[in-house]
Amino acid sequence: MTTGELSTPAEDQGLPESLRETLAGHYYTDPQIFRAEQDRIFHTGWFCAVLATDLERPGQYETVQIGRESVIITRRRDGRIAAHLNICRHRGARLCTQDKGEVRRSFQCPYHAWTYDLDGSLIAAPNLNAMPDIDKTDYSLHRVHTREWLGYIWLCLAETPPSFDDTVIADVTTRLGSPDAIVGYDIANLRLGRRITYDVAANWKQIVENFMECYHCATIHPELTEVLPEFADGLAAQYFVGHGAAFGNDVEGFTIDGSAGLPRIPGVTHDQDRRYYAITVRPQVFINLVPDHVVFHRMFPLAPDRTLVHCDWLYLPQVIDSGTDIDHSVELFHRVNQQDFDACERCQLGMDSWSYQKGGVLVPSEHHIGEFHDWVRGHIG
Ligand code: FES
Ligand code: FE
Repeated sequence: MTTGELSTPAEDQGLPESLRETLAGHYYTDPQIFRAEQDRIFHTGWFCAVLATDLERPGQYETVQIGRESVIITRRRDGRIAAHLNICRHRGARLCTQDKGEVRRSFQCPYHAWTYDLDGSLIAAPNLNAMPDIDKTDYSLHRVHTREWLGYIWLCLAETPPSFDDTVIADVTTRLGSPDAIVGYDIANLRLGRRITYDVAANWKQIVENFMECYHCATIHPELTEVLPEFADGLAAQYFVGHGAAFGNDVEGFTIDGSAGLPRIPGVTHDQDRRYYAITVRPQVFINLVPDHVVFHRMFPLAPDRTLVHCDWLYLPQVIDSGTDIDHSVELFHRVNQQDFDACERCQLGMDSWSYQKGGVLVPSEHHIGEFHDWVRGHIG
């Protein structure tokens, strides 16, 4: 595991060989840095927005916050997904103020009633016929690029999106060592068993960093280290390439008490069985793979010190259809989430202290977090 080219060698920082610098405290609190992250990270790359099966019927919609932009995502009548900025082309009013809902045929602005088709085109406005010089096609809602992968709708606000393969899929491949390793989990055909939303009083980078290391596992995750004993040694699955953490010998399943889990996803290979894999897809997705389910996190950074995290537990359709009890299964990662987010909030409290102006240090099992810091610095300059 190496740190990226931009990171400074320990000797240049006056640090012992074992340590690397973190980002300085203001990276987690400064509104200008947060704004730069919105402009150069969240407004430019691919962002995982909604679970596709949450928008099954035409007219069902969700609104999501990406950087400073609100986006409406809906299912069109032809079955395709459409995403547009949630801003009326007349005088800029927000069209939809709800997180989710369903319209019959169109979105109507509540201010002066300009009305848009599900595909974003302007279809009516009061007195529009009295203004023959106006070409309605010039006043469609602003379109946002969409891509469906792993059963989720990913959006890109940029005019010209970066390659999905070279960003999103490359992050998965880098972690798992192969683009094929995730295929057998057949995530797009799993079904939502539970969703829990966490409103975390911490900067989004705290949450990414926490997810990338397991130095904290022995201290704050007693249940997880019972199931994955090697995590007690402090090396996260994300420290390695292609490594899944093995279940303990007496552990039957990835559950709160190590009791039996649910039927194994058929495509999970022999090598992947009884193992846990973790992937960070920068900037805002964490994917956790275990043989019988997938835990999928989407982060929505709302402020320098506030991040919303939607966590989905996904299972085989027959598990959901049969009404099988998934509580033991959900409880393990729910508890891990609570433990992690408490830790992130505790760190956030220190970021404005004079004593953290230059930041802290990364120990060897955390050095790979330096690559993420370099990635952030590389984007925002
Ligand atoms: Fe939307 Fe006027 S601002 S119709
Ligand atoms: Fe953790």
